[in-house]
Amino acid sequence: MPSLELDDIQGTVLRRRPDDYQGAYLLYRIDDPAAAKRSLREVLPKITSAADWELPRPFTLNVAFTYRGLARLGVPQESLASFSEEFRAGMAARKEVLGDLGANDPSSWNPPLGGPDVHIGVMIIARSPAELREPVETAGRLAGVSLVYRLDVGVPVTGREHFGFRDGISSPHLLGSTCEPLPGQDSVQPGEFLFGYPDESGAPPKGPVPDALGRNGCYLAFRQMHADVAAFRRFLRDTARSPEDEELIAAKIVGRWRSGAPLALTPDHDDPELGADPMRNNDFHYQDDPQGLRVPRGAHIRRANPRDGLADTVVETRIHRVLRRGAAYGPVLPDGVLEDDGAERGIIFVFLGASLSRQFEFVQQVWLNDGDFAGLGAERDPLVGDNGGTGSHTIPARPVRRRLTGLPRFVTVRGGEYCFLPGLAALEWLTALPDPAGAPAATPHSPNPEDDR
Ligand code: HEM
Repeated sequence: MPSLELDDIQGTVLRRRPDDYQGAYLLYRIDDPAAAKRSLREVLPKITSAADWELPRPFTLNVAFTYRGLARLGVPQESLASFSEEFRAGMAARKEVLGDLGANDPSSWNPPLGGPDVHIGVMIIARSPAELREPVETAGRLAGVSLVYRLDVGVPVTGREHFGFRDGISSPHLLGSTCEPLPGQDSVQPGEFLFGYPDESGAPPKGPVPDALGRNGCYLAFRQMHADVAAFRRFLRDTARSPEDEELIAAKIVGRWRSGAPLALTPDHDDPELGADPMRNNDFHYQDDPQGLRVPRGAHIRRANPRDGLADTVVETRIHRVLRRGAAYGPVLPDGVLEDDGAERGIIFVFLGASLSRQFEFVQQVWLNDGDFAGLGAERDPLVGDNGGTGSHTIPARPVRRRLTGLPRFVTVRGGEYCFLPGLAALEWLTALPDPAGAPAATPHSPNPEDDR
């Protein structure tokens, strides 16, 4: 059993946020690298490690950097070159792989997302707005940087994500993380998610050099995803035969009832007690449901993590796991409203892992945005895929299957970034870097991060 250096690992990698949460995601541009490093040194003692996450504390704080951010801080060229190609390119440049086309194209993203001005990301999570105020105000006064984007997140009043589902149920368990796996939770080698430990191949993943920078760090991808709740409700109403049927179709789209109860365990009716019980709500497999009679092979959770459902293929699902640490934002669309009110709401999807391409991008490209892997042809994920009015979703059933057609787009990408979430010692290493000689102030639109150094 690998022993994880809990006091060096940023807490969000190994620990979940509270169910009741209020938070702020803050993005900064580095204007003056020397002053920015002094600011980071001040912030360092406030960064929450996995060792002190559980202590009574008013808030947790974690910090990540884009490639441009690392370059601006003066990370040497040799280290910059050791980061993966997709991280260096950035999320916007990976739009073909991610399927970010049409309405999801980076040209329509909220500025400055996807642009050259996003260098540092700070995530602060508290239990109440009162506890959030002080750390956010302090973070707003940091020297050497400009706050370029702020998104407030918080648990919707319903306690569910905006489409109405209990979220944050299933995630892989990291061996060595000191918590016990819940029933049905896969235990995965920590190197799948953290640099410096063996991954499922038995060897540590190739991480950034030097070790002082890479150790206990990982990649982080975040995506602001707008949820068109009114469109989802209208689609259910127009497609279903009754209010009960609406709930069944919603469950067949996600793979769980809105309460969180998995269709795999309760295929015909919801079971809210099961949905709320962490000892039971993730303890299921797909191998006994090869045709998807209970959980359609195209349902969101079966695509995003096919579990043992691909056991008779060559695909090794354990190397494509994603660790999710997202949060919801925006006001709830009141019950029964079927017209969009124009409000911005959705989730900030956060991926953590050792490989952006093998984990996040693979899941997005091969499992969510394509159907071939499951014999579903061109069908995309019915919840988060870019279906744009022409999508379809097959619901196997006896005696005849149902096929939902004319699926609209329920989710639109508002922007996102690839970041690196370093360990705490690596953060100190970053703040001690010599300033690049004559570092100029940021040129907002230089196409190449090296130009900014
Ligand atoms: C607005 C966007 C999204 C919404 C509303 C959403 C919603 C949900 C819900 C309700 C669940 C079931 C609860 C749970 O198991 O935690 C779930 C599970 C999951 N989602 Fe999403 N999701 C979104 C985007 C994504 C994206 C972009 C990815 C990956 C690239 C993803 C990957 C997963 C994974 C891996 C699971 C767990 C599956 C399992 O282990 O059974 N989701 N999502």
